[in-house]
Amino acid sequence: MNMNGKTVLITGSTDGVGRHVAGELAKQGAHILIHGRDASRAKALIDEIKARGHAAPSFYQADLSSLAGVRQLADAVKADHKRIDVFVSNAGIGSQNNGPQRQESADGYELRFAVNYLAGFLLAHLLLPLIKAAAPSRIVNVASIGQHPIDFDDVMITRNYSGARAYGQSKLSQIMFTIDLANELKGSGVTVNSLHPATYMNTTMVRAGGVTPMSTVEQGSAAILHLVEGDDVADRSGLFFNGMNETRANAQAYDANARKKLREISLKLTGLES
Ligand SMILES: NC(=O)c1ccc[n+]([C@@H]2O[C@H](COP(=O)([O-])OP(=O)(O)OC[C@H]3O[C@@H](n4cnc5c(N)ncnc54)[C@H](OP(=O)(O)O)[C@@H]3O)[C@@H](O)[C@H]2O)c1
Repeated sequence: MNMNGKTVLITGSTDGVGRHVAGELAKQGAHILIHGRDASRAKALIDEIKARGHAAPSFYQADLSSLAGVRQLADAVKADHKRIDVFVSNAGIGSQNNGPQRQESADGYELRFAVNYLAGFLLAHLLLPLIKAAAPSRIVNVASIGQHPIDFDDVMITRNYSGARAYGQSKLSQIMFTIDLANELKGSGVTVNSLHPATYMNTTMVRAGGVTPMSTVEQGSAAILHLVEGDDVADRSGLFFNGMNETRANAQAYDANARKKLREISLKLTGLES
């Protein structure tokens, strides 16, 4: 895809790999909608992109740990734009951010499930009319190779909690949503794929976990950009990639029953059901 003049929304682009993707796409002439919580981090990125001679991105501030925040973000984007060519759902918290203990979102949901999965689920649905209006267009869900099957009797992980399990559940949920949404969007000209960008990139979330980084944001960014603009994936949808290569996710992703359950729960939790 030629990105010149395209409108691209990247959640969580004030830091880490999303920030790098934003810079690369701005270089190619795309209009970037930056999103994050922190206005000063956003300003630093906007200044950097402008200083390189590229079009100034717009900034949308929203905390995705509240569904009201997600809805406000969608409303603000809709007020400014009629079409979105690419939506990269990238914002996330790792297994250790703010400590490994169980935390809840503003709506009382397990925090990693809420921020990493439910927010992107709701945002994608709210923005679908704009994404469809730009077809051929793409959705890219930044998931992970770190996946944990969902226990449908305890989706909010009130028992045997660990940050790694919660993170893995949220990431597998993104992949399951990707498969379902791809089926729903067949024939619409909108593709949706998910990926593990790279293993232990040198980012805030990895450093927060005290893990020694194993790869660079440049590597993860290249994998995301492949799904954003690669010609080889133009007509491919519902897939999971490890870096640049298509691969299989956790077996639960291919269980249609489990995906149906997750979808029903998600519609209910986000208020989309009504
Ligand atoms: N790092 C890795 O090795 C790795 C591996 C596999 C997958 N991933 C995935 O890649 C994506 C990006 O990760 P990263 O490593 O680049 O992380 P990062 O450097 O920690 O950046 C996370 C981004 O998400 C935003 N964010 C976090 N919580 C938010 C909230 N409640 N509301 C709104 N925005 C929020 C942050 O915004 P603020 O600037 O406001 O904090 C930041 O822009 C994540 O989905 C992650 O799961 C990363």
